[in-house]
Amino acid sequence: MQPSVIKLTRMTEAHTEAPTHYPPSAAFAATANATAEIYDRAEADRLGFWAEQAKRLSWATPFTEVLDWSEAPFAKWFADGTLNVAYNCVDRHVEAGNGDRVAIHWEGEPVGDARDITYAQLKDDVSRAANALTALGLSAGDRVAIYMPMVPEAIVAMLACARLGVMHSVVFAGFSATALGARVEDAAAKLVITTDGQYRRGQAASLKTAVDEAVANQPSVEHVLVVKRTGIDVDWTPGRDLWWHETVEQASPEHTPEAFDAEQPLFLLYTSGTTGKPKGIVHTSGGFLTQASYSHHNVFDIKADDVYWCTADIGWVTGHTYIVYGPLSNGVTQVVYEGTPTSPNEHRHFDIIEKYGVTIYYTAPTLIRTFMKLGRQIPEAHDLSSLRLLGSVGEPINPEAWRWYRDHIGAGTAPIVDTWWQTETGAIMISPLPGVTAAKPGSAMTPLPGISAKIVDDNGVELVPGADEAEHVTGYLVLDKPWPSMLRGIWGDDERFKDTYWSRFAEQGWYFAGDGARYDADGNIWVLGRIDDVMNISGHRISTAEVESALVGHSGVAEAAVVGATDATTGQAICAFVILKESAHGGSDNIVDELRAQVSTEISPIAKPREIHIVPELPKTRSGKIMRRLLRDVAEGRDLGDTSTLVDPSVFEAIRASK
Ligand code: WT7
Repeated sequence: MQPSVIKLTRMTEAHTEAPTHYPPSAAFAATANATAEIYDRAEADRLGFWAEQAKRLSWATPFTEVLDWSEAPFAKWFADGTLNVAYNCVDRHVEAGNGDRVAIHWEGEPVGDARDITYAQLKDDVSRAANALTALGLSAGDRVAIYMPMVPEAIVAMLACARLGVMHSVVFAGFSATALGARVEDAAAKLVITTDGQYRRGQAASLKTAVDEAVANQPSVEHVLVVKRTGIDVDWTPGRDLWWHETVEQASPEHTPEAFDAEQPLFLLYTSGTTGKPKGIVHTSGGFLTQASYSHHNVFDIKADDVYWCTADIGWVTGHTYIVYGPLSNGVTQVVYEGTPTSPNEHRHFDIIEKYGVTIYYTAPTLIRTFMKLGRQIPEAHDLSSLRLLGSVGEPINPEAWRWYRDHIGAGTAPIVDTWWQTETGAIMISPLPGVTAAKPGSAMTPLPGISAKIVDDNGVELVPGADEAEHVTGYLVLDKPWPSMLRGIWGDDERFKDTYWSRFAEQGWYFAGDGARYDADGNIWVLGRIDDVMNISGHRISTAEVESALVGHSGVAEAAVVGATDATTGQAICAFVILKESAHGGSDNIVDELRAQVSTEISPIAKPREIHIVPELPKTRSGKIMRRLLRDVAEGRDLGDTSTLVDPSVFEAIRASK
């Protein structure tokens, strides 16, 4: 159910300041990949513009039709064209004479554990992996789950799947065995690719044990392919388990890529929705790669001598589009880092920027706020003069963090691209163009050329830019025209796909993004955050329902309600309100610790609540719906909003008392 009243208070205080524009320097603008002219070109002939962008790729069979929207909301882009995604990301750069170019400067978490991989080497590695996967019986249309830390083999595995028309489903290695098992089951994956262990803050921790647990009752899984990363002990199931170095590394580096239809499914990536069951978002080949390549080239202003670094993990869509498919299709040199920003200390990112001469750095607001807290003496201890462009993604970036990022990491001169998009959109949709846009801190600005977005009210009427600025009137962000990298569905659930994204504005045929937003007087878009029961923790999407279902999975819990409350570092933090069962009353002394551990094993440590309050009652409407809005007020220490629809307004005294 969608709320009909939008109430968003996050970060609006900053909007009351007179906005400051940050235009690009004349020097940056003069050499920028994108100039103002492309907005006009896209506007004049949108489909023609996308057809032109698709020519950034090598097609085995050229397409004649750009968009088929006749079965909306199931789109087909470039449908009669054929291509091989991995060929586009690897082989063609080697054929063009760039085989010696470094594709990946890989930096392991242990200092000194680093490796450079050229495009020629990447081609051999991907070919070997494709041959090995074929030998294991995988063929186009099958699903492979990839559960790995940020090692080069993870990227090789993704590209090997792409090369064979096999769908990959990358599951973040921070997810629990339970979460992995649910995803393997939903996709009926035949193969799981993992590592023996992973480094986390200097320690080798097992990863394969989680796989063993996850696949124990999954009949679809025929094999588990294991990269030896840490050398720690693993249990072994003969016949099922295979070492990467005994299979992939022994395979032939010769492999001829087959061309697939543009609509060949490329990957499946699970993301949280408003229920406890994650959605398997489906992306396909030609349209996805076109928009990945186009947006990466123009938003990040990629040049042949750039050293690009996106700090995301391949477990999230940012890693798919802006580590694997966008950068590699564009033949760039990039840094891939395995570890956390604080290992061995908080200088690590800046050490890496200096070591490789990183020119473009793309990260999340939560990390920038962490650096802010640590203090500017940390970036100031480094020569960061190579940086010429900065990016932000995952959540709104507050103007203060934006300015700090520019001043202390970008030498007060680097343009910042605040990029709005989602797992579902596949690629950046709303962002400044760094050589064109006079950016305003906190705003993602305007849709990219070729993209159309609107902010509308309940009735689908577009808000008037600036008209209600003083009142902070917000509306719903919608995408009113199809785009090449749009999701093609939810794996196995067409109804949920239509219902979640296309029913809110069914009459108009618009995609409902689930975000609240507003226009400023200049018509720029300020995305304010989710308006559904989805939280954004450090840029990670987690649904309240998932955490609630993990909590009620504990034998002592009768009922749980979860809300996201504003947090200075992580954007939002998880606050849980829990009613214990009569039998557990008073609970064991460490019930709160037990519950936190429960969430960690059911979902992931990133979903652990910041606060758990044991309460006698939850605020409910007469129809029995938990009033999360009021819990959010409590969690954030605000005066309560309208409580008139509550059955028992006095429950709040008890809840407050528990805080
Ligand atoms: C949600 C999508 C896109 C990759 C990372 C997250 C929020 C994302 C921004 C931004 C304001 C943003 C939105 C969106 N979001 N980028 N630049 N400004 N909000 O992908 O997990 O699919 O989450 O992240 O709320 O709906 P995701």
